[in-house]
Amino acid sequence: MSEIRGEVRAFDRFHTVYRRGDDVAVVHQLSLQKLFLKRADWEGHEATHLSRFRPFDLVKPATRPRVLQAVLTQACNYRCGYCTVFNNEQPAAGQTMSMEVVDQVATLFNDTVRAGNGLLILHGGEPLLNWKGLTRLVEQTCSNTVLFTNGSLLSPEKARWLAAHDVNVIVSIDGLPDVHDQQRRDTAGNTTSERTFAGFQTARDAGCVTGISLVLGPHNRHRLVDTAAEVLDRLSPDSLGVNLPHYAENYSSCEMDVDRYAADMVALFRLAKARNLYLYPVTKYVKHLVQERFKWFDCSAMGEKLVVFPNGTLSNCINRTETVPASEAGQVLDVWQHELPIYDPACRGCHALAICGGGCIYDGKSFKASAAGEPMGDALRPSRSAPPAAWDQWAPPAFAGTEPARGACDSHGFDLRFCRTSLALMEAMVWDMFDEFGYGMPTVAELEARYQCFLSQPAGSRGLRIGIGHETMDA
Ligand SMILES: C[S@@+](CC[C@H](N)C(=O)[O-])C[C@H]1O[C@@H](n2cnc3c(N)ncnc32)[C@H](O)[C@@H]1O
Ligand code: SF4
Ligand code: SF4
Repeated sequence: MSEIRGEVRAFDRFHTVYRRGDDVAVVHQLSLQKLFLKRADWEGHEATHLSRFRPFDLVKPATRPRVLQAVLTQACNYRCGYCTVFNNEQPAAGQTMSMEVVDQVATLFNDTVRAGNGLLILHGGEPLLNWKGLTRLVEQTCSNTVLFTNGSLLSPEKARWLAAHDVNVIVSIDGLPDVHDQQRRDTAGNTTSERTFAGFQTARDAGCVTGISLVLGPHNRHRLVDTAAEVLDRLSPDSLGVNLPHYAENYSSCEMDVDRYAADMVALFRLAKARNLYLYPVTKYVKHLVQERFKWFDCSAMGEKLVVFPNGTLSNCINRTETVPASEAGQVLDVWQHELPIYDPACRGCHALAICGGGCIYDGKSFKASAAGEPMGDALRPSRSAPPAAWDQWAPPAFAGTEPARGACDSHGFDLRFCRTSLALMEAMVWDMFDEFGYGMPTVAELEARYQCFLSQPAGSRGLRIGIGHETMDA
């Protein structure tokens, strides 16, 4: 496969032209249809070739609650260096969810989320510290369920119970023990890799579908791809999530060199393809380009998710700590529904717009506020309460790509780590598809067959398609 980086230019309001040597790729910015041809065939015959693209209309589907994240306890037996729970202010800090609130969560889930094959996320703190609440909630909801855990409290008996109830288990592991132990310590400062790795194995042995969530930081980001490969080789998880560190007030290492991170994500795309792996977050970009589906938003906190804290109050995002009573669930769902790249003039004309979705809104807003010295609470409020009146009047390309190397973009306010990754992956994936299919217009069915590993997790996870950090449920 050629590694030659090409040139990316907007051709008109809707089409991007990628050039690499004597080859041209033309991609519709919204529908993601793609045409590959020789430069000599394209130049001078552009209108004829553009007539091969099917007509396309963009209509935003109504959002609906599809994910409920239950914070079963804010307590934890670990104190990981980057943890948002202990580095940021939290609703119901230190509290554990009572059985009364657990029952309210089950009712909320069954009434509002489950219709449509909803997703239940068991979260914390360390959710296994509230085993009684966890089992009671799972028994009442019976849906697609994912448990995030540090693994230390997973006995064979508990793991068997989770397997019997089809709970997908995600264990947080940041690398091999020497790397993992740098950030993931317990409350006494002891290393945790032994307990955590044993917990992962216990879940596997019990028959759980078991993934790994890895958070990037100074301990592993300088050799991100090697770290991911080592974890895959040692533990063979059913899925792997390589997660950007969220902004955390008392943890200064959440900002990263965005171009290096973007290049690493391209390398992870190649690794996942070569190994036939479901690897998050790469999969979130690939599937939209493969299936030619416009991505409106990246995270379910943009209108699809309810987070319930131990005291029963709600938010749309685990990191946005302004909560409301359970009776105001509708208001919570709507809070960030208009914070979309397509509504932002700075993103119009961006060649990666249709695979982007803006990443983590919390991170973009937090980095921006932090750089400007503004209060965080104000910054996390919505900046739009309605879509712009003329959002569908496609403007000429405005994105200059000259933003700083860290934080949030000055002009559009989205997390630059995510923005740069969208741009780099878009170009890399377009040429990967050309390398696979050659000249012509590959069909969605052909693309799906070749990029199958990015579309869904193993059969055992019952068709569950969840990103491990900012999950979105696919239509
Ligand atoms: C808050 S923990 C709760 C569940 C459990 N205690 C665990 O560690 O898996 C949920 C996930 O968030 C991740 N996490 C914690 N702090 C983070 C941060 N600043 N940025 C990104 N992910 C973070 C953890 O590594 C874990 O995978
Ligand atoms: S185990 Fe989870 S909740 Fe506990 S400190 Fe680590 S990341 Fe935070
Ligand atoms: S955030 Fe960046 S990659 Fe995403 S649409 Fe906007 S300019 Fe493009």
